[in-house]
Amino acid sequence: MTEIEAGAGTAGSSPKVESGRVPLRVAVLISGSGSNLQALIDAQRAGRLSAEIAVVISNRSDAYGLERARRALIPTQVLSHRGFPSREAYDAELAALLDRHAPGLVTLAGFMRILTPELVARWQGRMLNIHPSLLPKYRGLHTHERALAAGEPIHGATVHFVTPELDDGPAIVQAQVPVHPDDDAERLAARVLTQEHRIYPLAVRWIAEGRLALGDDGLAYLDDEPLAQPVVIDAEP
Ligand code: GAR
Repeated sequence: MTEIEAGAGTAGSSPKVESGRVPLRVAVLISGSGSNLQALIDAQRAGRLSAEIAVVISNRSDAYGLERARRALIPTQVLSHRGFPSREAYDAELAALLDRHAPGLVTLAGFMRILTPELVARWQGRMLNIHPSLLPKYRGLHTHERALAAGEPIHGATVHFVTPELDDGPAIVQAQVPVHPDDDAERLAARVLTQEHRIYPLAVRWIAEGRLALGDDGLAYLDDEPLAQPVVIDAEP
């Protein structure tokens, strides 16, 4: 099993640090509003998440999440994808930037880029993503529109370990929301986003507490039990 080490630096090389003694260093990658980043900051401040957000990295200099990070006195980095000759070249630079901040966990929080298999492999078991659908349904973009078009009665969001296939890694926790008859994509997205803010801090917390890991068998393990299905959190009434 891939151990997630609190306070650890590069991949798998450090001895395991007893969880709870050294806060897990988390890098948060964003491209936009950063409301999920804010949820992590808020959880940390409220004492619900014992982790240190070591750096916020955005591929867009106008991402509002950068402002959220600055307000919270979190170091920020902008690494624009423009000007790189290839996805591989960008991801190599991103990998180097991540290494400089030595996170134990990388969280994708609305980072709207497809990652190369090399980068994903480097962070295997130590990279999480949040996706606005009940995976495996609706990988990719426009999830709310597609859920509405399909007449889904239930929609939601998923936190999962990142693997090379897009939005395909083992699911950890999902939040379900009802789809209302008068929903449009915007209203549904807002309802899902509220739930994202509950499940992302929860999953990061499980990692920080040493309770969650990706097994060599490709399954997510919570409290040493394989998750055949993700943990499902019902929407608050
Ligand atoms: C969130 O809804 C997140 O699930 C989605 O982008 C939004 C970012 O919002 N991510 C993806 O679609 C990735 N495939 P935020 O910037 O306010 O956290």
